Amino acid sequence: MPPALLYWTYLVVMTAGLVCFVQAYRTRFVTPVHKRWGITGTVLSLTGIVVVLVGAWLGGWRVEERLPDVVAFHRQIAYVGTALLLLTAVTGALRMPLHKRLYIVFLPVYVVVLVTAIIGYRP
Ligand code: HEM
Ligand code: HEM
Repeated sequence: MPPALLYWTYLVVMTAGLVCFVQAYRTRFVTPVHKRWGITGTVLSLTGIVVVLVGAWLGGWRVEERLPDVVAFHRQIAYVGTALLLLTAVTGALRMPLHKRLYIVFLPVYVVVLVTAIIGYRP
């Protein structure tokens, strides 16, 4: 997989995930619509993460690091963002009251993870 193609593909998928999460927030009072946006974004993001990690481990895929410090930060907080994503989806599916507040931390952390990747890996 050519690094630039991997970068742009990943950027589109993870940004589409973010668009879904923002839409989920905007439609939060219309639960059936809200759930569709939330689940779609979750599936997109998780698929993106799994594909990149499996590609890196088994396929030797590499995206060139433009700014190694920023990339290191991306990789440190990436699992926090992923954990918050899973927590938001699970608490939503279980209708736990915590779900209604998680976006306050989840959305900003996701944006930081995404922006650090966009800047740190840019071709
Ligand atoms: C433009 C968007 C993004 C690009 C180009 C990108 C790229 C990468 C790359 C190249 C790696 C290292 C893989 C490896 O060599 O092992 C990585 C790690 C990772 N990324 Fe991203 N990423 C992006 C956005 C995101 C987002 C939004 C998330 C989720 C919140 C995320 C979650 C992760 C995770 C969990 C890891 C593994 C951390 C580790 O290295 O141990 N990424 N990313
Ligand atoms: C990932 C992005 C998501 C965000 C930012 C988000 C945010 C929210 C917020 C703020 C509310 C509260 C609305 C209110 O005040 O009544 C809510 C409600 C709800 N969300 Fe999510 N959500 C997301 C994903 C999901 C997912 C993936 C599911 C299901 C699998 C889900 C299921 C629900 C349900 C069932 C409610 C109604 C809860 C109740 O009234 O007890 N959400 N969501």
